[in-house]
Amino acid sequence: MDTLKVAIIGCGSIAQNRHLLEFEANEHVEITAVCDIVEERAMVTAEAFGAQSYTNYEDLLEKEEIDAVSVCLPNYLHAPVSIAALEAGCHVLCEKPMATSSEEAEKMIEAAERNSKKLMIAHNQRFVSSHERARKLIESGEAGKIYSFRTTFGHGGPEGWSVDGADSWFFKKGEAFIGAMGDLGVHKADLLRYLLGEEFVEVAGFVENNAKENVTVDDNAVCILRSESGVVGTLTASWAYNANEDNSTVIYGEKATLRLEDDPDYSLVVQYTNGEVVKYELGQIQSNEEGGQTNTGVIDHFVESIVEDKQPLIDGEEGKRSLEIILAAVESGETKQITRLAK
Ligand SMILES: NC(=O)c1ccc[n+]([C@@H]2O[C@H](COP(=O)([O-])OP(=O)(O)OC[C@H]3O[C@@H](n4cnc5c(N)ncnc54)[C@H](O)[C@@H]3O)[C@@H](O)[C@H]2O)c1
Repeated sequence: MDTLKVAIIGCGSIAQNRHLLEFEANEHVEITAVCDIVEERAMVTAEAFGAQSYTNYEDLLEKEEIDAVSVCLPNYLHAPVSIAALEAGCHVLCEKPMATSSEEAEKMIEAAERNSKKLMIAHNQRFVSSHERARKLIESGEAGKIYSFRTTFGHGGPEGWSVDGADSWFFKKGEAFIGAMGDLGVHKADLLRYLLGEEFVEVAGFVENNAKENVTVDDNAVCILRSESGVVGTLTASWAYNANEDNSTVIYGEKATLRLEDDPDYSLVVQYTNGEVVKYELGQIQSNEEGGQTNTGVIDHFVESIVEDKQPLIDGEEGKRSLEIILAAVESGETKQITRLAK
């Protein structure tokens, strides 16, 4: 198979810390072009990776022969840029959250189908070793029937991460659409769907802005989810866990409690009801604090799905379902009612 020509659109933090490095490390890929609305960023990145530099993604798609595109842009641009790239005949890896509405997500899925191209959403939490192992323990019945869970993702906020710091698009409703829930909550919504292997049907949410001033999006959210089989649990997302990041999940089952990314030394601790405790030393989860020191597995999976012509693990439909959970949480917060999701 010929080398895949890849373009990265958006040269901010996620592109620098993960996409560019992981594409460069992949033997099937050549980074052909990069794009950022800030010319200096695009040029410096292009130089570092031996690529062409663009400030307008439409020019890039028109002028370059690209096989696959990574969309590393503010949330409001995910759908329009992904659709333009799919229509230009490119496979697309789009960052999370997939879009800002179900309708947009649907249009992305349709564009992928119409053009027979892959569409993958970068939910990297599915590739974390402790999460993969926990899914197997649940799927095999080792943990017994699952009753409940609690999952959280929080840190001090994107001012410590985004290339634009405190001026970042992450804090602006028009560009981000959703704050901590869109940035972090959607990761856990996707993870829980994956771990439990079933869909959520009811969501109750308090999606608030009670920590940061001068931001127009949520920075603290607490939600209750109920799955179709009746598993209930809490999902929390925060940009105000100021002292330390918390990226932990606990699953409470009939035969075992599974503690994921909850212990500083052991990324998975399984406490069986018979008293036995198994501590797994698996690779550490990728975090903002670590930057790009670990491989997320996302880019390799995306490339493999193209090279081997396989459906990616997190396709458009999966991304849409995870998005709909956070949209339901926001709706619930606004209406003060439980929001129901289609099965
Ligand atoms: N998977 C993860 O764990 C993870 C982690 C962080 C961010 N993300 C996601 O990645 C995406 C990008 O976030 P980030 O942290 O890199 O943000 P960032 O603020 O660091 O970078 C965004 C970049 O996009 C550029 N940009 C804005 N509008 C543009 C346009 N019209 N054309 C070209 N470039 C444009 C900006 O100049 C900036 O360089 C977001 O969707 C975010 O949710 C995912």
